[in-house]
Amino acid sequence: MICSNVADYREAARRSLPGFAYHYLEGGAEDEITMARNRTAFQRIGFEPRVLVNVDAIDTHTTLAGAPAAWPAVVGPTGLNGLYWPRAEETLAQAAHAAGLPFALSTASTSLIEDVRRASDGELWLQLYVQQDRRIAENMMARARANGFTTLLLTVDTPVAGQRDHYARTGFALPLRWTPRLLWDVATHPRWAARVGRHGVPQLVNIAKSADIGPGIEAQAAALSRQMDRSLEWDDLAWLRRNWPGKILIKGVQSVDDAMRASQHDVDGVVLSNHGGRQLDGAPSAMEVLAEARGSMRRGFDLFIDGGVRRGSDIVKAVALGARGVLLGRAPLYGLAGHGRKGVDHVLALLYNELQICLRLIGCARIDALDASRLRLYETTVG
Ligand code: FNR
Repeated sequence: MICSNVADYREAARRSLPGFAYHYLEGGAEDEITMARNRTAFQRIGFEPRVLVNVDAIDTHTTLAGAPAAWPAVVGPTGLNGLYWPRAEETLAQAAHAAGLPFALSTASTSLIEDVRRASDGELWLQLYVQQDRRIAENMMARARANGFTTLLLTVDTPVAGQRDHYARTGFALPLRWTPRLLWDVATHPRWAARVGRHGVPQLVNIAKSADIGPGIEAQAAALSRQMDRSLEWDDLAWLRRNWPGKILIKGVQSVDDAMRASQHDVDGVVLSNHGGRQLDGAPSAMEVLAEARGSMRRGFDLFIDGGVRRGSDIVKAVALGARGVLLGRAPLYGLAGHGRKGVDHVLALLYNELQICLRLIGCARIDALDASRLRLYETTVG
């Protein structure tokens, strides 16, 4: 199938993946109200174009967490990417670097920090989940530092996993095991089985390495059974800072008050995020929180957003509302799942092209000159 936008790649991913893997990629929590809200929040914002502006040359360059980027996006952290393609994180990191963007590696990755660094000279960030045994997080941060990762994303919206009903429907469970139901799903997707399934069940190798557990399904079970540290609180940011001299962004902030509170700590910014609607159903979209938070943060404190970015114009809307940049979650994964490296490259190229078209059509030659005067807020969804 010919893919000419992110939605087409989503359809290609749906066709390529066994049901359990596609629903793991795509599904949200409970009734998926927040997941849908992530999209409607963008649809409620339109543009106020200015004409007769010289948009012959346009400049999309920016800096993200202090490092130059070709446009204001990050290939965001997603766990278990080995479900979609072999050496998935290496592939995503290489594609991000080729597009001039940072790549954020998840704690729950299926490739090692060291292997991702070997695969790419690009700008790498580490997403951190803090488990009860804090030595695991300390070890992971030490490994990332030793490998030149520059920015830490501390994810704070996941004291427990959200309720995802599709797990029960598809037979997906963590740790992943080949149950008869999953084997049937795999058997009916022979191309996936030959490409991905033959390597066995993807393993959470990063946690396993930092927790000093050997490979294999038991290791995965042991790594996962070490629960998230639900006692993590604001004061613990000092512990984080002692372990991470680089930039720190808190990911999963969902209120203006918490964004303000974060800005009073020794961190560099926040990612307004509801985890792609996979955690608390009923959480606001990041764009709604951004609209309220705009203007009230101290200078130099960055607000990133994620959730529902599917068009280059979504990135323009976020930046115009005051975001430093966006994280891309599912969009690059759709490309990866159907077409591997080529698919990720094309998804990023499509978004970049749409971003450039949008800037020209609204009459804005420099992305860092965008502000909310280019936006119109609609009461209801149009179209
Ligand atoms: C995620 N996300 C996520 N976030 C994180 O901090 N650590 C993680 O391991 C994961 N894992 C993960 C897996 C999958 C399959 C998805 C889709 C998402 C959340 C991710 O970083 C981001 O916040 C959302 O994906 C953004 O929403 P969109 O772009 O997917 O709509």
